[in-house]
Amino acid sequence: MADEKQYGGRGYPDLHDHIETLRELGLLHEIDAPVNKDTELKPLVRWQFRGGIPEAERKAFLFNNVTDSRGNEYDIPLVVGALATTPEIYGIGMGVPVSEIGEHWKKALAAPLPPVEVQDAPCHEVILTGADIDGEGKGLDALPVPISTPGFDVAPYLTATSCISRDPDTGVQNMGTYRGGIKAPDRIGLKMFVNLRQGGHAHWDKYKARGEKMPMAIMVGCPPALAYVSPQKIREGIDEIAVAGALVGAPIRVVKAKTVDLMVPADAEIIIEGLVDTDMLEPEAPFGESHGHINLEEYNFIFEVTAITRRKDAIMASIISQVTPSESSVIKRVAMEPKFLNHLTDNLGIKGIKHVSLHEPLTNIRRLAFLVFERGVPTTEIWRALYGTANFDSACGKYVIAVNEDIDPEQGDAVFWALAYRANPALDVQILKYRDRGHGPALERGDGFDGTMLIDATLKSDMPPIALPTKEFMEGAKTLWENLDLPPLTPESPWHGYSLGDWSEEWEEMAQRATDGRYMENGRRSAQLRRNDVAPNTSIRDVPRGPEKE
Ligand SMILES: Cc1cc2nc3c(=O)[nH]c(=O)nc-3n(C[C@H](O)[C@H](O)[C@H](O)COP(=O)(O)O)c2cc1C
Repeated sequence: MADEKQYGGRGYPDLHDHIETLRELGLLHEIDAPVNKDTELKPLVRWQFRGGIPEAERKAFLFNNVTDSRGNEYDIPLVVGALATTPEIYGIGMGVPVSEIGEHWKKALAAPLPPVEVQDAPCHEVILTGADIDGEGKGLDALPVPISTPGFDVAPYLTATSCISRDPDTGVQNMGTYRGGIKAPDRIGLKMFVNLRQGGHAHWDKYKARGEKMPMAIMVGCPPALAYVSPQKIREGIDEIAVAGALVGAPIRVVKAKTVDLMVPADAEIIIEGLVDTDMLEPEAPFGESHGHINLEEYNFIFEVTAITRRKDAIMASIISQVTPSESSVIKRVAMEPKFLNHLTDNLGIKGIKHVSLHEPLTNIRRLAFLVFERGVPTTEIWRALYGTANFDSACGKYVIAVNEDIDPEQGDAVFWALAYRANPALDVQILKYRDRGHGPALERGDGFDGTMLIDATLKSDMPPIALPTKEFMEGAKTLWENLDLPPLTPESPWHGYSLGDWSEEWEEMAQRATDGRYMENGRRSAQLRRNDVAPNTSIRDVPRGPEKE
């Protein structure tokens, strides 16, 4: 967490400070070559997620010379992946180690820190209104907004948005990340998902009922803490700027917006102020979505720009989303996993659950959840957790699978292994009806609802050990492997055998004798246990032991 005296007394890093830290830590690819934002820029960053680069080696990209297909050059740099390309980068933006992100979120949600108003704001160093935002090359057309999915998207899109609106009844502001397609220098097509019950949409309904347009301010580029709060579902009635303040341990500085009645973060890079039409909608998209498919054209919200304000040296931010893993899935996942775990442990009082893992590659964290339990948790508690996970967030938990700690949910093979040997589909699966179809392309089948599948793939009773050499032998062999200069190893779980409970002291002693080279003693023992009254394959445990022969 930042110290209040740091960052020029502000107490939290702005986007400039954050990028500087990434640069110092070697976590920034800085690109000075001209890169076309309409055709090259996002595909280049995409390779980082689809090119076999391990997560730990992903970095942010800062483009200092953005161009476009019309031959324009932009004087504002664009940063992509600076917020959450990896959990480590997210932790840096929040000022805490990755291991503390969850606990930190929990505390911030419990005790938001209200913002503080200032008069002098960096985000107001440049103010553009009227003729300055009207016409080609001006307004939104002067911003380096990239095309996210060239070949399918029909416009450049703002993706790293924090859209601020106010509840006209309570006065409480909301902040959400909603995509915005550029339609004209002063017009954005805004998508607020109705089925995700977005805060901005709830406000829009209220303004519509009043017959008024909805004031909104869209930040693109802001202190990272604000960007981390925007995509999270936070209880209605809580000012998300105050949650961001609690995340960094210092009140966020806010200032009155220039043309709309909203308080906006003073340290934002760029703010687009405007009014959302509550009478008319217009077609928006196709656009590549985080569920991994193209969101086809549909009627959505019209945002009319009233002003663009910015720092003189503004840097614009963009999030890389679409097919997961992506920056969009990391930014959600690092906060959502601990939120699910807290719900199960603190709200439902479930004991013995160690971890909640939301599956990320291709599935986008919402559809598959894994609950990792220690051994010995009663079946009824495992099922409470399965139901609790399915019901916690309407968009998450279509498939929920409970496993034990020795199964790594990040490894699909290990999960299939648990399903194959530890679950009986006739006993350990429940299918529930009436799930919202959630975030994704429509399934045009059945009753229009989706379903939920819950699976208990934990151990129900003791099982024989895993058939790999025990840890000491595998570790010894690893040293030998390395001494022999064989190719480097990356151990994959399970890489050694271990007991699952069904293993006797006698077998342990016999295995010890074998590795000591005394296997013939075991042979003498089995000769003493010979019988002629049992069928082949009969377990030794099913045969009463008589007194052993001399
Ligand atoms: C990169 C990114 C893009 C997103 N785009 C949209 C979007 O276009 N529309 C939308 O409704 N939600 C979008 N979301 C999800 C919302 O930000 C999320 O549901 C959030 O909780 C909304 O905030 P609210 O609950 O305050 O409305 C996006 C999230 C991320 C990380």
